[in-house]
Amino acid sequence: MKRIIIQYGGTGDLALKKLYPAYENLIGKGFEFDILALGRRFEDRNTFISTIIDKKASPEFLKHLDYLPYDMADQKATANLIHKLKSMVNDKENVELIYYLALQPNLYEEAIRQIQEVDASMNSICTLTKKIVVEKPFGFDLESAVRYNQILETAFDDREIFRIDHYLGKEFMQNLLIMRFHNDIVRRIWDKDSIESIQIIFDETHGVDQRLGFYEKIGVVRDTIQNHILQIITYLTMNEPASLSSEDIAVEKVKVLKAISPVEEFSMGRYESLGANSGHVVDIPTYAALKLCVNTYFFANIPIYIRTGKMQGQPKSLIYVKFKNTTKKVMHDQSIAENAVIINIHPELTIDISVNLKQPNTSWKSKPVRFRFNQAETFGANTPEAYEQILQKILQGDKSLFPTMREITESWRIVTPMLEHIGPSEVYPVRTQPRFVSELAAKNHFEWYT
Ligand code: BG6
Repeated sequence: MKRIIIQYGGTGDLALKKLYPAYENLIGKGFEFDILALGRRFEDRNTFISTIIDKKASPEFLKHLDYLPYDMADQKATANLIHKLKSMVNDKENVELIYYLALQPNLYEEAIRQIQEVDASMNSICTLTKKIVVEKPFGFDLESAVRYNQILETAFDDREIFRIDHYLGKEFMQNLLIMRFHNDIVRRIWDKDSIESIQIIFDETHGVDQRLGFYEKIGVVRDTIQNHILQIITYLTMNEPASLSSEDIAVEKVKVLKAISPVEEFSMGRYESLGANSGHVVDIPTYAALKLCVNTYFFANIPIYIRTGKMQGQPKSLIYVKFKNTTKKVMHDQSIAENAVIINIHPELTIDISVNLKQPNTSWKSKPVRFRFNQAETFGANTPEAYEQILQKILQGDKSLFPTMREITESWRIVTPMLEHIGPSEVYPVRTQPRFVSELAAKNHFEWYT
């Protein structure tokens, strides 16, 4: 069967930074498909390749990479696309078209209308199967997500729709489930009897100016909280699924999301120079701190503190699970530290368990030490990038690494108060932490993990 990935947004940031390297690796591993990049920026394939494709790209990848100048608003856009696709297939061939929408959600409607025309025309010359891949955020809010989904479902079955959250392709995410559900000793301590609080810290040093056009309509809530962060929370707090199959996992994830109330405690802000080069003031949050709880039987009332945003001094991506410290009361020794599990996501994937052991040359004094797992040291540095895993699943038609529509709508419900919030938002100088981050800690009597 011939497979063609039709890459909408083919000259965008995501395609260049993540998708093309992943396609190249997959082709290197023997997967067979062609990519047709659609974009407005270049007149022809040669300029596209010579201007934005990595000079070191493999000849094999380049052989499978084509380009079509494409402006969705142009009357002739669909006819041009059909013409191009027809030139790429043989009569009566089995063909799979994978439409990859790396587009603003408000363009879906027009894209789907055009895709239906393409399908009808291609169907007349070959035996067609199809898939559609939609980037996050899926919609702008709950109402639009439902509407966009209805639009997609006019042309595709749910099994043909792949809604992306690339965090599900990350090794640390999949490891969370393995760590929790393949280990009796972890399973026994992973609930409200043992866990005191959880922190998710996702500080990034880069800004968004190179993709301002996208980000200024999105902001931090739609960019990382509605998707990546809530998906992390489902993996951290779901009950044991009947198996690690995608269907069984999805059932448990929905239960977690349903058990989270719309966020009440949150603050947002933006970095000072946001949009400085664009000549217009952009007021969209680039940083947020919030607290929420998952009110299921096993996790009720464990506070989950989250902070995430751009233009920070230090990159820090981690999950900190702090356990209750009953020992210091039992042993009458306030110096005994709490136990913790620290999952470091960036720059290195490590999982630390912090336990207390004897400090040498003392009389029964303990000191917290770490038992560390380091992904690269144990398994080598070449685990595939998240997007590679995600794309591989799409090619294989396996939906295990994709959030379901129910998860997506529940996630929108949870962040609705943040989206509707109008009011003063803090403007923080670049490389500094917004003041509300420490205020959240002070108010809730906890300290951020450092
Ligand atoms: C993307 C967001 O989905 O995830 C970006 O749009 C963010 O703003 C990125 O920087 C983080 O992903 P990763 O894979 O770099 O951790």
